[in-house]
Amino acid sequence: MRRIMVAVSFLVVPGLLFLLNGSSRAGDKNTVSFKADVFPVIEKYCLPCHAEENFNPSELSMDNYDLIMEGGQRGSPIVKGDAKKSLLIMKLGPEPPEGDRMPLNSKKKIKEGKAVWMDEAEVEILSAWIDQGAKKN
Ligand code: HEC
Repeated sequence: MRRIMVAVSFLVVPGLLFLLNGSSRAGDKNTVSFKADVFPVIEKYCLPCHAEENFNPSELSMDNYDLIMEGGQRGSPIVKGDAKKSLLIMKLGPEPPEGDRMPLNSKKKIKEGKAVWMDEAEVEILSAWIDQGAKKN
C-alpha cells in the first residue's frame, strides 16, 4: 500500500507542478492569442488615442490586426519574431528611440507621479506574441 502511495505521488506531483507553471506564466511555452490576450491590452491602453475615430496620432490606428501591422508614419511597428526590434515594444520602455513613452502621459502627470504605464506582465504578453510571430490568432 505504501509503495503504491509513493508511486502515485511521483506521478501526481510533477503533473501539478506542470499545470501550475503553465498557467501562471504567460508567454514561455504557451501560445499567446491576438484576440484573447493582446487586443484587450491594446484596447485598454492604446485605443483611447490610436483609433481611426479618435486622435489617431502618427496615423497609427490600432483598431484591428491589419491596421496595427500596417503601422503609422514610421512604418510597421512590428518585426515578426523579434519583440526587441519592434517599435511597438520599444515605445513602451522608459527611453524609446523616437518620440515619447507610450501610452502617452502628460509631462505634468509624469512629474506628479500620476502617470499610467502598462504593467510588466502586460508588456510581456505583447512581447511574447511578437516573438511567437505576431500571428492573427
Ligand atoms: C494619450 C494618447 C496616446 C496614447 C494613449 C497612446 N499613444 Fe502612441 N502616440 C501618441 C502620439 C501623440 C504619438 C506621436 C508622437 C510620438 O511618436 O511619440 C504616438 C506614437 C506612437 C507610435 C509611433 C508610430 C509611428 O509610426 O510614428 C507607436 C508605435 C505608438 N504610439 C504606440 C502606442 C501604444 C502601443 C500604445 C498603447 C500602449 C499607445 N501608443 C498609446 C499618443 C498616444
